[in-house]
Amino acid sequence: MEPAQEPYPLDVEAIRADFPILDRKVGGDATVPGEDEDDTTPLVYLDNAATSQTPDQVVDTIADYYRSYNSNVHRGIHQLSQEASVAYEEAHDRVAEFVGAAGREEIVFTKNATEAENLVAYAWGLNEIGPGDNVVLTQMEHHASLVTWQQTARKTGAEARFIRVTDDGRLDMDHARELIDEDTAMVSAVHVSNTLGTVNPVAELADLAHDHDALIFVDGAQSVPHMPVDVREFDPDFFAFSGHKMCGPTGIGVLYGKERLLEEMEPYLYGGSMIRKVTFEETQWEDLPWKFEAGTPVIEQGIALHAAIDYLEDVGMERVHEHESLLARYAYDRLSEFDDIEIYGPPGDERAGLVSFNVDGVHAHDLSSILNEHGVAIRAGDHCTQPLHDVLGAAASARASFYVYNTREEIDALVEGVDDARQLFA
Ligand SMILES: Cc1ncc(COP(=O)(O)O)c(C=O)c1O
Repeated sequence: MEPAQEPYPLDVEAIRADFPILDRKVGGDATVPGEDEDDTTPLVYLDNAATSQTPDQVVDTIADYYRSYNSNVHRGIHQLSQEASVAYEEAHDRVAEFVGAAGREEIVFTKNATEAENLVAYAWGLNEIGPGDNVVLTQMEHHASLVTWQQTARKTGAEARFIRVTDDGRLDMDHARELIDEDTAMVSAVHVSNTLGTVNPVAELADLAHDHDALIFVDGAQSVPHMPVDVREFDPDFFAFSGHKMCGPTGIGVLYGKERLLEEMEPYLYGGSMIRKVTFEETQWEDLPWKFEAGTPVIEQGIALHAAIDYLEDVGMERVHEHESLLARYAYDRLSEFDDIEIYGPPGDERAGLVSFNVDGVHAHDLSSILNEHGVAIRAGDHCTQPLHDVLGAAASARASFYVYNTREEIDALVEGVDDARQLFA
């Protein structure tokens, strides 16, 4: 008899009902209703680390904003502007509460996590880093952080150093202790690797950085959507994530920064909304966080991010994490059944909800297009971690990544498609 399967920690069917896109069929001419029905197959969406799907609650919030109170913020005396301003400002409060920040002063809305990295690199890095300094990154940084700090180091004459990844996909903390020294200005570390699924010891890295009077930037793009995160527990100086990976819309990212640092920093963009007083000679900046939100900000996106956080907290972030861990273990075990598949990163019970792998003799792009014929959407390529792929000795990999609405049956569909590809290329 088959062993009983562990029950899901959340009500997957109820959650799926909030995401009508998951009922879509793909393949054939699926865009034309009723045509080529026989060639279509149910969508299995396993590309959540790139962008997650958006529940009705968030879509409705966006529609409601445009239908009921679409208006520019901070400027108008009229009612619509006041309603939009209150909703937009409250979105900052909600995000602050969600990640344990002291208040809206510490929460800057950006276009995405990448822009948050760049904001700090430009506004802090170019002014504070100089020749003789070093910037310490990990080999598993996403390009959003790696390229940004590599180029900041280049422009300022500093050295970029990289903490090694061990053979089992963890950070080599002995190497971190060697690299972080009294000349370190900034440590930038990814919280959860979008390729390996590794959850990094960011509290330990923060202690190391602070012991050497350096700052630490933590990239939370793959942690905030998937697990409870409280900045008070690991004390980053800066922390960033993106709305579109956590049931929110595209076009919004968040920069958390310690108030003292944000106060000291020069603005990154100049223009309207970020000023208090302007004369022909000089300008006084607006209070935080508006000092960093020049021009018309991401109003609809901020309000929708608020709704996405409400949605995720209704599900419960602990349960989100448990569900994804269960799926990651299941996918890891199922893919491990094949001895011609190499899975990257730590074992199944120690990883976040994604699995990157390669099938011997099958390029990740070919695998992805065969899976696409099975209706299974995964990511193939370097996942914006080219240098990490060099370390792994692979030009590319296939990545399946999970979220609250995914099921074991969908992972079975993935494994079936992978097996087909194996046989086709055998
Ligand atoms: C770990 C990590 N950091 C940063 C990013 C960049 O996010 P965005 O493209 O939303 O700026 C991503 C996106 O895949 C990511 O996975």
